[in-house]
Amino acid sequence: MALIAPHGADQLKPLIVDDARRMELEAEALTLPSVMMSSAAAANAVMMGAGYFTPLSGYMSRADVLSVAENMRTTDGLFWPVPVVNLAERCPVEAGQRLALTDPNREGHPLLAVMTVDAVETLSDDDIATILNKVFRTDDPEHPGVAAFIAQGRTVISGPIEVLNYSYFEEDFPDTFRTAMAIRHEISERGWERVVAFQTRNPMHRAHEELCHMAMEDLSADGVLIHMLLGKLKPGDIPADVRDASIRKMVDLYFPPNTVMVTGYGFDMLYAGPREAVLHAVFRQNAGCTHLIVGRDHAGVGSYYGGFDAQTIFDDEVPEDALALEIYRADHTAFSKKLGRVVMMRDAPDHSPDDFVLLSGTKVREMLGQGIAPPPEFSRPEVAEILMAYYQEIDGTETS
Ligand code: ADX
Repeated sequence: MALIAPHGADQLKPLIVDDARRMELEAEALTLPSVMMSSAAAANAVMMGAGYFTPLSGYMSRADVLSVAENMRTTDGLFWPVPVVNLAERCPVEAGQRLALTDPNREGHPLLAVMTVDAVETLSDDDIATILNKVFRTDDPEHPGVAAFIAQGRTVISGPIEVLNYSYFEEDFPDTFRTAMAIRHEISERGWERVVAFQTRNPMHRAHEELCHMAMEDLSADGVLIHMLLGKLKPGDIPADVRDASIRKMVDLYFPPNTVMVTGYGFDMLYAGPREAVLHAVFRQNAGCTHLIVGRDHAGVGSYYGGFDAQTIFDDEVPEDALALEIYRADHTAFSKKLGRVVMMRDAPDHSPDDFVLLSGTKVREMLGQGIAPPPEFSRPEVAEILMAYYQEIDGTETS
């Protein structure tokens, strides 16, 4: 069976180059002016390199950025939910020239991509307000995604790119980082047809584990793609290597063999809630998944978004024919003391909040830091052990 088609194309369009072209570009780059990219722009390059942002061929122009922000479409009509932009303080070249883009996240700032500059434009205050209010639904500089956006500068450098490597992701996460091409290949090899993706930037507790089981069952899926974000997060979030270890432990112990792929992608978290959920859907389709779990406060932060805004955007703003992938809508999920298992709250209408084991993120963080495992109804003990070791280590470092 052929896998689900990529977004807006018959085939994936990864912008990564082969070895021969890489050598040519490295030689050419020695003669070119260069810009050290923002981390967000570098993450965009990695996603384009890895096929996840098919069918884009490079960074968007100001007109495309505004069109995507306002209508979730490029000026050519391609459905796309979030601007893919190379913003900088300034640009050393003019339209028509070649530019070397270097990596802010690796020592020595090696070459990450080379672009042909189509345009160099400046975002006005109004442009920035439009982009922020549409994409993040706020222009509050305290919002971590807004802060990261503003910090990049307002020069839009647009044009097609060629990508030389996957930045630090391959080296730092050799077992977990995957390209969209590699995931599609593995899905085919496994003979899976219905594949449900689980987006995560956190460790997985019982509720998350159960969401995957429920989605598998309800969708009669062949497997789950756990697809974790490996890029930059806001301070206080748990680093990818710790999340990875705890997720792998959970999968080994609590999932039937050969039903889960534990993988990750190289992108910085936007915390853009609903818009980011739609982006998640686009790039999971590109990775060959037929479904994406969207639960409570998906890709959210603080109280900027309503608990289920990331689901309703698919009803209100995503046209029917925009995506081939479907979302699996999860209600708030927690362990029911009455039923003795994890349930979605919509399936337990007779329950009051006291009937569930509910713990805030802050409470869980506090307990883990003190070496107290959250109740097994909330966290698997083996997962809690890994998280306790991490928090005790960083708390020890912070106080010593
Ligand atoms: S996210 O920023 O990557 O979305 P997180 O890793 O916490 O954050 O969540 C992963 C997925 O699980 C998201 O789809 C989120 O909506 C969902 N989710 C997390 N916790 C719950 C919960 N208790 N009930 C329902 N869905 C949840």
